Amino acid sequence: MEKILDRISREVMDAFEACGYDASYGRTGISNRPDLCEYQCNGAMAAKKVYQKAPIAIAQEVAEKLQGNPVFAEAGAVNPGFLNLRVSGQFLADYLLRMQADAHLSVEKAKEPKTIIVDYGGPNVAKPLHVGHLRSAIIGESVKRIARFAGHRVIGDVHLGDWGLQMGLIITEVRRRQPELVYFDETFEGEYPKEAPFTISELEEIYPTASEKSKTDSAYREEALEATARLQDGVRGYRALWQHILDVSVADLKRNYANLNVEFDIWKKESDAQPYIAQMAKDMQDAGYAYLDQGALIVDVREERDTKEVPPCIILKSDGAALYTTTDLATIVDRMRTYHPDEIIYLADKRQEMHFTQVFRCARKTKLVDENTGLKFLGFGTMNGRDGKPFKTREGGVMRLETLIADINDEMYKKIMENHEADAEEARETAKLVGLSAIKYGDLSNQASKDYIFDVDKFTSFEGNTGPYILYTIVRIKSILGKHRAGGGSVGTGGILQPAGAGEKDLMMALVKFNSVTEQAYQEVAPHRICAFLYDLANAFNHFYHETRILAEEDAAQRESWLELLELTRRVLETGIDLLGFSAPERM
Ligand code: ARG
Repeated sequence: MEKILDRISREVMDAFEACGYDASYGRTGISNRPDLCEYQCNGAMAAKKVYQKAPIAIAQEVAEKLQGNPVFAEAGAVNPGFLNLRVSGQFLADYLLRMQADAHLSVEKAKEPKTIIVDYGGPNVAKPLHVGHLRSAIIGESVKRIARFAGHRVIGDVHLGDWGLQMGLIITEVRRRQPELVYFDETFEGEYPKEAPFTISELEEIYPTASEKSKTDSAYREEALEATARLQDGVRGYRALWQHILDVSVADLKRNYANLNVEFDIWKKESDAQPYIAQMAKDMQDAGYAYLDQGALIVDVREERDTKEVPPCIILKSDGAALYTTTDLATIVDRMRTYHPDEIIYLADKRQEMHFTQVFRCARKTKLVDENTGLKFLGFGTMNGRDGKPFKTREGGVMRLETLIADINDEMYKKIMENHEADAEEARETAKLVGLSAIKYGDLSNQASKDYIFDVDKFTSFEGNTGPYILYTIVRIKSILGKHRAGGGSVGTGGILQPAGAGEKDLMMALVKFNSVTEQAYQEVAPHRICAFLYDLANAFNHFYHETRILAEEDAAQRESWLELLELTRRVLETGIDLLGFSAPERM
């Protein structure tokens, strides 16, 4: 459906033209003085020079032309030449009726769908998911859903970290603890055991131990580096052990992501890029892009306009080992061949900005991507505690994601039980949904690049700009509709009437923004736009609700119309939270 602002602009542009001015002066925007008008056009001021006329005279002529136009309830010229506009209730009601009839709620699907890969999550195997990975998962999932809703073909890839030094560290630690394991016997030619020699909890203890040791013990670190290189070289026993680490970790990761309502289409990993590395490096060298510098193979990616030093991109270290940059570049090769994406969007901590600058420049320079393939880095800020420092456990340790989720769920459970008598089991389930909304909305309502404070009390509140508040509003609507249905009524039979009051008009005005907001969120890769919209919509609804006795209304057509409006509001809110990656309970 044509966006409301476009429709309004079109009317005003036609009026400018009919008065003998260029139509372009009629472009109209949302008013920045909502007390005076809803929409505003400043074109008369710009037209002054060209037509040698006082702007107010031009504005008056156009306003005159707009009288009687069914789109507007009011079109007035004010000094020095503004056109102040209010839309008519009938126009809004008609627009909403069409929106209600549209399965996609007025949002047009992309005419030329793009293939977009969203690279998010990015956990490292054998390391427990901690809060640092939360943002990548939450924002990435929403970015994926928003792009998909806009009609694009979107592939979410978890891009597991499974190829770097952390693997060498784990192998080294396992070897020191259990040197007798068959994986370390180089003469062994048989089949390796199917059972992993560790559990996930052992693995989660092994990695930090190894990482600590390598910081102080240089021989240990050497051993880990060598183990990494041997793994990458394909030494059989190391590969078998690595496969175990991967299997044990992935099973655990899948469970964790499922709890977050995060779903990846593909579970590719850094190691999947390995088969492309040798050829890629050779091609880069043959084409003269890459050269050897102190034994390492590098590509210069400096640009003249740089204000900050951008170091060369290292393709291979002097010992031939692949780095983070290497796997990211070779992954691009893989992705271009396998999926031919029009765009790849990467989610990672904003401190990785330089890494992505190097990777993107190198990929372009060495022609790994087509000229028109977009590479976009969405760097996010840090999730801080109330003290303004990176979020930690009360004891000061790294907060595990599972612990965080469990804490929030307990908090929500308490609130729900305080609110009303509820069946304990149902309350547990509800607490999960509401808890997830608290975590996700708390994150997504901030612009991704900014740091934010994870404030449990604020995020779990049923009031204010929070996920639970949005869910509460949805549940309120469901309960009214449920009551109506329980009384034998149906919804979806009546029309939508003109707004009966200011509160109702505000609600309608909030609803009609849905298509422009989702489009903006897609174009700016900005889930926080959806949050702001949902918050405004929920507020508008609650105002309307408090001033209107819906079910007690005696005029049947009016009552039907309000129920229709409620149902539409519910659909828009629920579609909106689905774009953010959470859902609403039936009751709370
Ligand atoms: N595994 C990385 C980390 O923990 C994030 C990966 C982001 N994606 C990428 N293609 N580099 O920091």
